[in-house]
Amino acid sequence: MSHDKEFFTTFFSIMGGLAVFAIVLVIIALTLTSEVSDYKPDEIVVENIKPVGEVYIAGESEPEAAQATEAVVAADSGGAAAEPKSGEQVYNSNCMACHGTGAADAPKLGDAAAWAPRIAAGMDTMLANATKGLNAMPPKGLCMSCSDAELQGAIEYIVGQSQ
Ligand code: HEC
Repeated sequence: MSHDKEFFTTFFSIMGGLAVFAIVLVIIALTLTSEVSDYKPDEIVVENIKPVGEVYIAGESEPEAAQATEAVVAADSGGAAAEPKSGEQVYNSNCMACHGTGAADAPKLGDAAAWAPRIAAGMDTMLANATKGLNAMPPKGLCMSCSDAELQGAIEYIVGQSQ
C-alpha cells in the first residue's frame, strides 16, 4: 500500500510538473508569434520583394512605383526634359522670332543702343519685365516651360551679343 502511495505521489508530481512546463511553453510560443506578427519589414525589403511589373490601364493614374522610377530616371540621368536649356537655345527657340528681327518693335539682338538703357536698369528689372511681360513683349517670351534661370540665361545671351 505505502508503495502504491509513493508511486502516485511521484507520478502526479511529475505529471503536474510537466503540465506546468507545457503551459510555460505555450506562453513562450504565444509571445514569440506575437512578435513575429508585429514584425514590419524595412522599406528596402518591401522594395526588393515587390512585384516586377504592375499593370495599369491607360487613363488610370500611374502606380506610385512607376512615378518614382520616372522621377529617379529623370533625376539621375538628367533626362532631356530635366536638363536646363542654355541661354542660346532658349533664345533661338523662343526669343529670336521678335528679338532677331525687331518684330513688334522688339529691341534687336546686337542693337547696343536699344539695349543700353535696359541693361542699365539691371538684370533684376529685365528679368522681372521679361517674366511678367512688357507691352508687346509677352510673359516669359512665351516660353512657359522656361525656369527663371533659363529665362535669365536667354537675357544674358542677348545682352552678351548687344553691348
Ligand atoms: C512676341 C515678340 C517677343 C518675343 C517672342 C520675345 N520678346 Fe522680349 N521683347 C519684345 C518687345 C516688343 C520688347 C520691348 C518691350 C518694351 O520695352 O516696350 C521686349 C523686351 C524684352 C526685354 C527688355 C525688358 C526691359 O526691361 O526693358 C527683355 C530682357 C526681353 N524682351 C527678353 C526676352 C526673352 C528672354 C525672350 C525669349 C524667352 C523674349 N524676350 C521673347 C518682344 C518679344
